Amino acid sequence: MKIAIIGSGGREHAIIKKISPQHQLFAIPGNAGMGVPCLDIPVNNTQDILAFAKREQLDFIIVAPDNPLVAGLVDVLEDAGFACFGPRKSGAQLEGSKIFAKEFMQRHHIPTAPYHAFSCFEEAVAFLSAQKTFPIVIKADGLAFGKGVRVISGLEEGLAYLKALMVERVFGESGAQVLIEEFLEGREASVLAFCDGITLKPMLSAMDYKRALEGNRGLNTGGMGCIAPNPYFTPQIAKECQEKIFAPTLRGIQADKLDFRGCLYFGLMLTDQGVKVVEYNCRFGDPEAQTLFPLLQSDLLEIMQACAKQKLAQQEVRFAPDHACCVVLTSQGYPQDFEVGHALSYPPELDICFAGVKRTQEGLCNASGRVLSITSTAPTLQEARALSYARMAKISLKNGYYRQDIGQL
Ligand code: AMP
Ligand code: GLY
Repeated sequence: MKIAIIGSGGREHAIIKKISPQHQLFAIPGNAGMGVPCLDIPVNNTQDILAFAKREQLDFIIVAPDNPLVAGLVDVLEDAGFACFGPRKSGAQLEGSKIFAKEFMQRHHIPTAPYHAFSCFEEAVAFLSAQKTFPIVIKADGLAFGKGVRVISGLEEGLAYLKALMVERVFGESGAQVLIEEFLEGREASVLAFCDGITLKPMLSAMDYKRALEGNRGLNTGGMGCIAPNPYFTPQIAKECQEKIFAPTLRGIQADKLDFRGCLYFGLMLTDQGVKVVEYNCRFGDPEAQTLFPLLQSDLLEIMQACAKQKLAQQEVRFAPDHACCVVLTSQGYPQDFEVGHALSYPPELDICFAGVKRTQEGLCNASGRVLSITSTAPTLQEARALSYARMAKISLKNGYYRQDIGQL
């Protein structure tokens, strides 16, 4: 089969690694470490992607990142006759608009933090000014490169953030509406599920490390590492999620006639008052994908095709009973300023998911914040963690930085 993967990060490389080399793969735009032909087409250039699909007569297209899913790339490709993995625009709204997601959860009685939505700056300011307790959470309604959420510890900080979102529009139209919601306390867990609109099959639970620095300090990033299964996601919590979150979400998707054939990502907070949904994503997480796929024993491509054809009920989704630990190598300074263009050196046999890399005369160089990731699996988390760090130590990058405490409980 001829298959295109839309996206360019470690997640997309992890997808490519799980697809048998007997297939002809393309990445759009991909990265230089993926080892497949990369097309220099931005993910938001729907027309050029469609033209490429027609020219190559693609058999299957996997749309991995949030932006093209929310913009409706799958709608355009499917309407032109191409089979795709990824929700159509109607389903992708669960990630594309946080207010849409909150209204969906209210309508279908799915536990989440209480919130208020605002499209008028003055009303948001008045509401925030009347708050007596902090922290409180302010979120841009739309996509904001994963940076639209801020936990606010005082009124002044909150007013400045509302101004940045709604007046200065630092995230453009994504800040035209905002949410102000209750701060939830607890441990976070991610559960990604395959969904074809009729059936939902959760994968293993995962725990990602969002903060830049050890001890979960520093700024939020796109992800510094991840482990699976999540040690706090007990069978009892899984049961609670199935009854109160996963099943009602699937029923809600059906009742609201959302077209969701792809990966539905549940961002969860395990609170003293039960599990609550922090967010939905309409795609595989990064680095959750790099962490989970090495444990997946069933055929990923078959599962994705089953989702597209609404045949997931008959499809096996089986994971090894092992543990995985993924460590991300970043450019020192990420998520703020960092240098690019330094050469990477690593043993050629090392199994790496590449992300922000470019090829130059010196070989592969770092080209953005998250450079690559290493995942190891083993019967225990401790062993998986030790293996990942031993393998990471074999890589050298002048301004490379990675957290030393991924998987340390
Ligand atoms: P989101 O993009 O909505 O997932 O938010 C990004 C991160 O912000 C989450 O993974 C949480 O760590 C944090 N967060 C979001 N909403 C809340 C909340 N209501 N209470 C506490 N932390 C939150
Ligand atoms: N790792 C979090 C995300 O992909 O959104």
